[in-house]
Amino acid sequence: MRTPIMAGNWKMHKTAAEATALAAGIVEQVREVTGVEVVLCPPFTALGTVAEAVKGTTISLGAQNCHYEAQGAFTGEVSPNFLLDFGCKYVIIAHSERRQHFGEDDALINRKLKAVLGLGLVPVFCVGESLEQREKDLTFDVLRKQVLGGLAGIQVQDPSRLVVAYEPVWAIGTGKVATPQQAQEAHRYLRDLLAGLWGTETAEGVRLQYGGSVKPDNVRELMACPDIDGALVGGASLDAGSFARIVRFQ
Ligand code: PGA
Repeated sequence: MRTPIMAGNWKMHKTAAEATALAAGIVEQVREVTGVEVVLCPPFTALGTVAEAVKGTTISLGAQNCHYEAQGAFTGEVSPNFLLDFGCKYVIIAHSERRQHFGEDDALINRKLKAVLGLGLVPVFCVGESLEQREKDLTFDVLRKQVLGGLAGIQVQDPSRLVVAYEPVWAIGTGKVATPQQAQEAHRYLRDLLAGLWGTETAEGVRLQYGGSVKPDNVRELMACPDIDGALVGGASLDAGSFARIVRFQ
């Protein structure tokens, strides 16, 4: 049985004070929820205060990115070790905004995944096609290239060490959510790719999140799909009430 995992990606929003207030609101509103893992991914600058706000709760902390080296002359970068220092369990790797605006390619993503897995952080590894790619019927080709490139040379035996997020680029921040059928089909394909890499048993245990315009009113039908195990939520995670409704999803 895969425990559902709901993660809030706050992107470049919220000062430390605002993030603390949002985290406190979420803590309050999801207090009674059981059987769902909740992850908050604030900006780096708010990791410390959000870590304090979720202390003593079951909510996990995640970051939105990190460097592939543990230390060194990389001005302005953040080591995965620094994330562990704040108590992060998760880190988002290869978000489409990183691929698009910061030139992250499969080779770089592969280095990051190896680094964070080696340090015991759980990557939330993002993949997804653009609108143009979908319209040209290239969705599966893109997913295959991203998964095989990102995970090249990586062996995962314990499925709890990795989360994969399917985020169609055309659905992110657009209000245009994938239909449950589109999402399920992509998730099934991703799980089959993982099975090809590491065997069925591991692949069946890896949690796959859907991301892209997830809202309280569409999360339920997405979560009803057999291969969707959670959501990576951007915009709707910036409000405690709407994120809490997504976390409850039933
Ligand atoms: P969105 O973002 O929910 O605002 O579409 C999702 C994401 O980028 O992870």
